[in-house]
Amino acid sequence: MPAIRRIGILTGGGDCPGLNAVIRAVTKAALNQYKLEVFGIEDGFLGLIQNRIRQLAWGDVSNILTLGGTILGTSNAANPKKYAVKRGAKTEIIDVTDRVVEHAQAAGLDALVCIGGDGTMSGAADLIKHGLNCIGVPKTIDNDLEGCERTFGFDTAVNTAAECLDKIHSTAMSHHRVMVVEVMGRNAGWLALHAGVASGSDIILIPEIPYDLDKICAVLTDRSRQDKRFSIICCSEGASQKGGEKVVAQRIESSPDPIRLGGIAIKLAADISQCSGLDTRATALGHIQRGGSPTPFDRVLATVFGHHALELLMSGASGQLVVWSGGGINHTPIEKVANRQRLVPIDHPLLTAARAVGTSFGD
Ligand code: F6P
Repeated sequence: MPAIRRIGILTGGGDCPGLNAVIRAVTKAALNQYKLEVFGIEDGFLGLIQNRIRQLAWGDVSNILTLGGTILGTSNAANPKKYAVKRGAKTEIIDVTDRVVEHAQAAGLDALVCIGGDGTMSGAADLIKHGLNCIGVPKTIDNDLEGCERTFGFDTAVNTAAECLDKIHSTAMSHHRVMVVEVMGRNAGWLALHAGVASGSDIILIPEIPYDLDKICAVLTDRSRQDKRFSIICCSEGASQKGGEKVVAQRIESSPDPIRLGGIAIKLAADISQCSGLDTRATALGHIQRGGSPTPFDRVLATVFGHHALELLMSGASGQLVVWSGGGINHTPIEKVANRQRLVPIDHPLLTAARAVGTSFGD
């Protein structure tokens, strides 16, 4: 493998707290330890498609450790293999991978650090096949990347969601209401499970366990008979009724994963009102879960991930994704994780503990 002198770094897919901490770790370690040149690619793969690449100096990455979002920008609708271009009134999907490789080569990039989720990793896997050396760093508030037990961003999102659930708790008590709180997570219930347990939610609904509306109503009416005058339901956006469909908010055709889930809380609140007669309200936490300053845990994880990514590159590795597995920092081939999701096993110890303390999963 040729010597590495110049690297590119990009953040792709939905943002999450801790992206800047990774950018900082990679850039500072590259400048400090290896005297490399570092180039930031704007808006994920879109910046490589449109050739928007700028050099990063020490000052560019100072004071960003605690900053939410990403100083490079991101895009979750720029898949080089399926790039949407407008031709008159029509939108055409074309493959621009060759253009991306040309731009990276013209900028003299010897390697790319791609910080992203499964969509970004599948993009990186294609670039590797085209001869570009890439190392992946996993991010997502969903914590659903295959082969990685903990992604940065997740801890902050759990904290935010749990804090919101605590606030919902007090108003639920005052009004003796059932409150359905929808959290993100796509097809994986990690965020709902952790935020639900952390907030003591009475019912937690996750995509991995389709719910039975009659069972939910029985739990709620039972609670009100026992003089528990309010109930909190922490519901994943990907939850669905047994035999039913997930609630889809939007389709974004240009995105590697075009389905945007959302709306289950409103549907479920209406169903609960009807079947139990209880006063019920719905709240969707939405993108607030992706915002804000990363928790100290996420800052630390992001720093360790960023440093490990650089060490992998400098040791001559390519096509590897940095992961947290078996209680430590590790790496696995990007190809093995691209386009795959890590779901909650239904015998997961946290689920078992929640059931033991009386939490219902609506089943
Ligand atoms: O994957 C992260 C995530 O925040 C999911 O939890 C959510 O379903 C999705 O992204 C929302 O994406 P967008 O930013 O396109 O609304």
